[in-house]
Amino acid sequence: TRKIIIDTDPGQDDAVAILLALASPELQVLGLTAVAGNVPLDLTARNARIVCELARRPDVPVFAGCDRPLARDLVTAEHVHGKTGLDGPQMAEPTMPLQDIHAVDFIIETLRAEAPGTVTLCPLGPLTNIATAFRRAPDIVARVQRIVLMGGAYFEVGNITPAAEFNIYVDPEAAKIVFAAGAPITVLPLDATHKALTTADRVQAFRDLGTEVGRMVAAWADFFERFDKEKYGSAGAPLHDPCVIAWLLKPDLFTGREINVEIEVDSPLTRGMTVADWWRVTDRPANALFIGDVDADGFFSLLTERLARLG
Ligand code: BDR
Ligand code: CA
Repeated sequence: TRKIIIDTDPGQDDAVAILLALASPELQVLGLTAVAGNVPLDLTARNARIVCELARRPDVPVFAGCDRPLARDLVTAEHVHGKTGLDGPQMAEPTMPLQDIHAVDFIIETLRAEAPGTVTLCPLGPLTNIATAFRRAPDIVARVQRIVLMGGAYFEVGNITPAAEFNIYVDPEAAKIVFAAGAPITVLPLDATHKALTTADRVQAFRDLGTEVGRMVAAWADFFERFDKEKYGSAGAPLHDPCVIAWLLKPDLFTGREINVEIEVDSPLTRGMTVADWWRVTDRPANALFIGDVDADGFFSLLTERLARLG
């Protein structure tokens, strides 16, 4: 099994990613670290615990991390995810506790305690917690097996500004630190995630599981997709963050290129842009496997098959 830490700002799509990981025996989730992003930190830390309880895994430790980006005011996405970040179905408040230690300390301590090269970081939100850990404890970078993150865009450009994807836009300084750190990185950008759409038959397949998890995921999809349907007339909502976990489970569903990716932090017009050298027109060294495509049917059958195991 592969040991992972999921760094997250749930978010309906984060929630589905967490469920997919908890349903998968190939992965051992060492902990969930919450970060401010889609909604403020108190809500992302709450939502992460709601998801663990839904999966009947209150033993998974949940840590609260950074409540704002390194150098900027927090930008949130209630327009997509609703006021709580997990709007849609009625959900009870979580009863499992939040851990006492800070998420950044948990990340540092875990990477130091586990054997080098055995822990994969899975960031699903702004990169504030990861960058803070790398800055405070540079020795941990060489101990990371891989970072597999949702963020950025190339052909699909932006979803929060014309140039930038939300996770990178919210904390570009943090993203710059992470992309420059030297750990192996896999990037699941909008180019891939905008193909993983919750069409009506795919949502029906979740509902047809006849389980509480199936009903919740379907209800989250119903809420989450109204934004894309109303605004863009698209067939459904993109399940961005579950692509990270799916890449760990079945990398053959994805194709991409090892390329150089730099983060724009200065320009007000293109802040948070992932300048991806897809055509290798510079001699800047590759620092990321940048995913360009996903087999969407294969992705949804994997997801549905795994969610069925949660009951
Ligand atoms: C990313 O932004 C968030 O709204 C989603 O949870 C996802 O991580 C997509 O741009
Ligand atoms: Ca997210």
